Amino acid sequence: MVFEVPKLRYDYNALEPYIDEKTMRIHHDKHHAAYVDKLNSALEGNAEFRHKTIEALLTDLNAVPEAIRAAVRNHGGGHYNHTLFWEMMAPKAGGKPSGEVALAIEKDLGGFDAFKEKFKNSGLNQFGSGWAWLVVSKGKLEVISTPNQDNPISQGKVPILGVDVWEHAYYLKYQNKRAEYLDQFFNVINWKNVEELYLKAKM
Ligand SMILES: [Fe+2]
Repeated sequence: MVFEVPKLRYDYNALEPYIDEKTMRIHHDKHHAAYVDKLNSALEGNAEFRHKTIEALLTDLNAVPEAIRAAVRNHGGGHYNHTLFWEMMAPKAGGKPSGEVALAIEKDLGGFDAFKEKFKNSGLNQFGSGWAWLVVSKGKLEVISTPNQDNPISQGKVPILGVDVWEHAYYLKYQNKRAEYLDQFFNVINWKNVEELYLKAKM
């Protein structure tokens, strides 16, 4: 399989003023593209593994030959994380969740405000580069963070919301103010997508 950067479903400037156009252009067209290129070159010439889906590769990293394991973990993770991330945001979104995921947030995490604080702190306390996630683990919601481009599926957990806390995700607009970026991220969360991923994860 030759992996590709998916087209954004909204304009580069559609998440303004929370996520600026310039960041979106560089993030999507340059950073994500670089992960895809490096993933494709790592898999080139590996007949067995180049046909697997990105989910299959990351779910069982130990099965990936050692020579390309780190590349698949980092660049494949980068490709998968960003593919999810673009869908987890939307213009005119944010607000509070509804439906099943809202009930689960209430039950498993103590309500929306508690979730919000936990999710924000998870992104804030991730030292260096990484991601904060809302995941389904053994049928329950959890908030976790991962370093670098690791994805929760490599730990058997299903991500339903994630926020990129690499500096490339926010530095142009927010500089060193990661907390402010995380606060504003709540204005672009695509809860409809989160609900769909939640229902799928619970099946
Ligand atoms: Fe990123």
